[in-house]
Amino acid sequence: MTQEQTLTEFLIAEQRRVPGATGNFTALVNDIRLACKRIANLVGKGSLADLAGKAGSVNVQGEDQAKLDIVANRIFIEIHERAGTLAGMVSEELEDVWQIPEHSRGAYLLAFDPLDGSSNIDVNVSVGSIFSVLPNPDPAAEMGPAAFLQPGERQVCAGYAIYGPTTMLVISFGHGVHGFTLDREIGEFVLTHPNVRIPDGASEFAINSSNSRFWEPAITRYVDECLAGSTGPRGRDFNMRWIASLVAEAHRILLRGGVFLYPRDDRATARSGKLRLLYEANPIGFLIEQAGGRASTGDRPVLELRPTSIHQRTGLVFGSRTEVEIIERYHRDHNVRRFDAPLFGSRGLFRGAG
Ligand code: F6P
Repeated sequence: MTQEQTLTEFLIAEQRRVPGATGNFTALVNDIRLACKRIANLVGKGSLADLAGKAGSVNVQGEDQAKLDIVANRIFIEIHERAGTLAGMVSEELEDVWQIPEHSRGAYLLAFDPLDGSSNIDVNVSVGSIFSVLPNPDPAAEMGPAAFLQPGERQVCAGYAIYGPTTMLVISFGHGVHGFTLDREIGEFVLTHPNVRIPDGASEFAINSSNSRFWEPAITRYVDECLAGSTGPRGRDFNMRWIASLVAEAHRILLRGGVFLYPRDDRATARSGKLRLLYEANPIGFLIEQAGGRASTGDRPVLELRPTSIHQRTGLVFGSRTEVEIIERYHRDHNVRRFDAPLFGSRGLFRGAG
């Protein structure tokens, strides 16, 4: 029987591939792993941990915080702030960049969503943590938001932990995607899904269709054609999914193919999209591209976007390459958004609609 490879062994092998590596990056990934294990432990306790429900506060995006959002955020910060690997942190749950004390500063930046999909916790549906590692572009400069405003293609590592029936850590260092399953008996992540590749030709799409009246024409056209199935232009039947948990959706697509859409739409709150670029779209996009798929804003690769603020939102479409390319083509075709059209402008008949 061949010995299973643990994440620790995998990281040591990765470090050996980089001549002159200091071990700082390996230490950083080890800390991310520890944070995810701690969060997995708490999520797994459910109501037994007295952490169920809302905290009674809202985050910088105006969304209700769950108690576990706050605890998961604290776990990430406590583990990383004195580890000597990071120069700064950005979190969905923090308004500003988290400063690292000068004597503990390292070479990397970490952007994370400590508990994505947390509205699903109370109903026992899979949630996850998402993380993105960037190089600190200017170690001499004062740490602030500007350091994080790098396109996603600069990420040196990205991944997520999914807390589902099993806990998994899915990660990429820029050459492929690897999935590790937490073996609770030994407390280690074990490589169970090496070199994940997104299957092409799948027939599942995921979108929250309660927003359909606000969609752009390109999205309506794509979804209508999927719904028309074998009698429509696509000539085959599609199935639909919506978990409302980005990590769970990304995980399914990595393993089974298909496409996910959370497009920008005409709602006042979603005109730039809903999902956050730095700690949702970029890390998920990095994994998807590394697994042979495509991640897009709808009309261009998401990893090329140069962020303008740390909590910026974006439209996001990702999954099997052929499906995403069809959606991008529909965006290039005639795609006038309703709220851009004259009747919806500031002097238009339907001022401020949506
Ligand atoms: O960004 C948080 C999130 O819960 C994602 O995990 C998920 O994909 C999305 O929002 C669900 O949004 P909605 O509730 O609008 O369907």
